[in-house]
Amino acid sequence: MSVDTLTISKPVLVGILGLGTVGGGTAEVLQKNSVEIARRAGRSIEIVAASVRDINKKRPAVLDNVKLTLDSNEIVDDPNIDIVLELIGGTELAKDLVLRAIENGKHIVTANKALIALHGNEIFAAAQRKGVTVAFEAAVAGGIPIIKAIREGLAGNQIEWLAGIINGTGNFILTEMRDKGRDFEDVLKEAQQLGYAEADPTFDVEGIDAAHKLTILASIAFGVPLQFEKVYTEGISNITSEDVEYASELGYRIKHLGIARRVDSGLEMRVHPTLIPHRRLIANVDGVMNAVLVRADAVGSTLYYGPGAGAQPTASAVVADLVDVVRALTTDPGNRVPHLAFQPDAIQDIEMLSINEAETAFYLRMQVRDQAGVLADITRLFADQNISIEAIVQKEQKDDQGCVPLVILTHNVLESNMIAAIEKIENLSSVTGKVIRIRLETLG
Ligand code: NDP
Ligand code: HSE
Repeated sequence: MSVDTLTISKPVLVGILGLGTVGGGTAEVLQKNSVEIARRAGRSIEIVAASVRDINKKRPAVLDNVKLTLDSNEIVDDPNIDIVLELIGGTELAKDLVLRAIENGKHIVTANKALIALHGNEIFAAAQRKGVTVAFEAAVAGGIPIIKAIREGLAGNQIEWLAGIINGTGNFILTEMRDKGRDFEDVLKEAQQLGYAEADPTFDVEGIDAAHKLTILASIAFGVPLQFEKVYTEGISNITSEDVEYASELGYRIKHLGIARRVDSGLEMRVHPTLIPHRRLIANVDGVMNAVLVRADAVGSTLYYGPGAGAQPTASAVVADLVDVVRALTTDPGNRVPHLAFQPDAIQDIEMLSINEAETAFYLRMQVRDQAGVLADITRLFADQNISIEAIVQKEQKDDQGCVPLVILTHNVLESNMIAAIEKIENLSSVTGKVIRIRLETLG
């Protein structure tokens, strides 16, 4: 097909719900690369209408010829529109609009991880019934084509585990705090100005956004239904510069990781701050960049790296999905790549393990009296719980109660054993305050 043929064939008409950071970026990328995109898709792609909340807001010039509306139903009901991009965010309105568009026979592209993690099972079932596609590459790790890589590129493998830095805002905050000593709130504000953060930024800092993404990754990696409620979630708001510094002295970086691991007894899904050895590539992924490390039986370890948030990187993934959907418009629905990588009737539940059943190493920090016998008491309590110690460091700086920080690294231990040991340690008269614990993964 020549470029001339492309220009005369009927364009694919697209309607966008939401023209914010991602919607605006998508319009810009579609215009700037229109010729290349049409050459790849086989047809040109034209945005004809978009819905917004504030019709008077100034928009990029690229949208001058796009009809704006406050009523998203006009877009999902428009018989001329072939593909709907859902870029509003949130779950309730987005779900209603997406289901209505599917019912009207439209294909969907969305960047909305919350929507997919919470309502994906229902949405994909509806899409399958109607023979339409719901594409969601931009929902995980921004511009990194991680969905395609796992769903298609690793289709010959059994995946053992995956671990990812999958929230750009959180990684940006941790990096700026570590490298520039900046204040948490100040960096968060900058992430919001740069368009990285969610509408509710607690989703970023409390790990909820990463848990949405991990839900999706686990589903396509292990062929299980989407089960957001089973993900154990901790955020980064309690990470202190002290722990970042001590971890660094011991040869580790603290990163906020989403981990899904298949073990004999079931599947672990957890999101939490994690010490990673400095020498691992993923420990050096900084700023808004994301990375996902996947361990699979045939290929071994593969690492996927790139920008995790922002207008154009996310638009790159949205447009790639659009191109895929345009190419698939004329294919038999039964022969398309399944939404969740596995054929819908082959998706199976695996026992989801609670965090108490997870086995990891730990970094612990506690304030202890600088006196004889303290270490013996603590190590005895560890021995009682079958916990083996890898390193102990006592720092010199005394607090106003005359206590010094004691930092301990352990070998792998069952979480429930660690909780039991910590409870007893906190009851020792020689230990003041709470024991800080951060999980440690070697990712070897
Ligand atoms: P924004 O807040 O920047 O944009 C939201 C858009 O939706 C705005 O244009 C807003 O209109 C419009 N909107 C909101 N409510 C309504 C409504 N009721 N009716 C019509 N329009 C409405 O969000 P983002 O672009 O950052 O995020 C969009 C989606 O992409 C989310 O699901 C997010 O999680 C996801 N995502 C975001 C990334 C990023 O880097 N920002 C990266 C990957 C995914 P108006 O402009 O008038 O206010
Ligand atoms: N708020 C998200 C992040 C956007 O910072 O990673 C990309 O999904």
